[in-house]
Amino acid sequence: MKTYDIASIPGDGIGKEVVPAAIRVLQAAENVHGGLEFKFTEFPWSSEYYLEHNQMMPDDGLDTLKNFDAIFLGAIGNPEIVPDHISLWELLINIRRHFEQVINIRPARTFEGLSSKLANPKDFDLIVVRENSEGEYSEVGGTIYQGEDKIAIQNAIFSRKGTERAMNYAFALANQRGKKVTSATKSNGIYHSMPFWDDVFKDVSNPFPEIQTEQFHIDALAASFVTQPERFDVIVASNLFGDILTDIGAAIMGSVGIAPAANININGKYPSMFEPVHGSAPDIVGKDIANPIGQIWTAKMMLDHFGETDIGDQLLRAIETVIQKGVVTKDIGGKATTNEVTDEIIKQLRRA
Ligand code: NAD
Ligand code: IPM
Ligand code: MN
Repeated sequence: MKTYDIASIPGDGIGKEVVPAAIRVLQAAENVHGGLEFKFTEFPWSSEYYLEHNQMMPDDGLDTLKNFDAIFLGAIGNPEIVPDHISLWELLINIRRHFEQVINIRPARTFEGLSSKLANPKDFDLIVVRENSEGEYSEVGGTIYQGEDKIAIQNAIFSRKGTERAMNYAFALANQRGKKVTSATKSNGIYHSMPFWDDVFKDVSNPFPEIQTEQFHIDALAASFVTQPERFDVIVASNLFGDILTDIGAAIMGSVGIAPAANININGKYPSMFEPVHGSAPDIVGKDIANPIGQIWTAKMMLDHFGETDIGDQLLRAIETVIQKGVVTKDIGGKATTNEVTDEIIKQLRRA
């Protein structure tokens, strides 16, 4: 019996609806596969936890998480009760950084039977490699002066190591896929960091003559995601550009509710964290209409990370079938509830 110890953090809002749904699917996967056990330990760290404890997780929270095989997170954020920059920096971003989850991989592709938000979508299958530890997400800066003269200064940090790491990851991935890497840049307008980004991209691409490279300014790239997503394979992007591109990627698939993501610790020292692209969706909480597919596909990425690719692939096929059958939530044109979609995925998985 192979056991995986997984820390689950449902978090806020629909995180509390889609994480239990995905855990049900993983538990069904244990029986389908045999010889596999997923042991979940749940942590209630969330904005509500903050109201009670004045912190998003206990002082030894990171120590507690460190020994798990993976962290399975829903979403964090309830800005009505805790400002986002506090809840997210104390929990989500804290975990990403402390556990050196320096790469965020976020795929987007077409599914048969799923109507994309695009008028005439061609088949596409792309993956964004988002630098996940530095860039525009930085605490360096501050405010000066007061009142009308007040100025906020926000510095972006781009290290050669961090930039190379993300780009090398993208090239290695492209090598196993469509052999093309697109760099998301903005070296025409951002004076220091983006020309540096372009230089590093050139250096990193040198040992990969068989991989086609191109660079797009982020504004044009955002438009091309909408007009011709089929031309992309692997896209490497800074933290913020990657964040924005992957919500666009989700929208052109059909909904942010289906987009998965994996925060990868590439040196193997710490657990990786699996959380979908979407947030806590306060506008649909408690209605049983949250799309569980993003969280369930994220579970497949966790299985792949464990090396359990057979069951991961079966799970993706179950998702594909359920989409084709139209047993889906409102955001992608269906009438099913969160739990009905989940039950149907489990049913298809058992049939596999
Ligand atoms: P959001 O992704 O939560 O919601 C954007 C829109 O997408 C909403 O209309 C929502 O109803 C819809 N949506 C999202 N997930 C869905 C799902 N599974 N099924 C159906 N519809 C879905 O983004 P937001 O509104 O900008 O953020 C809400 C909160 O979540 C904020 O506090 C934000 O900071 C936080 N957030 C957290 C994470 C995270 O923890 N990883 C990610 C993004 C946003
Ligand atoms: C995401 C989210 C987070 C990010 C926010 C909530 C800090 O949007 O995971 O995509 O920007 O990384
Ligand atoms: Mn985002």
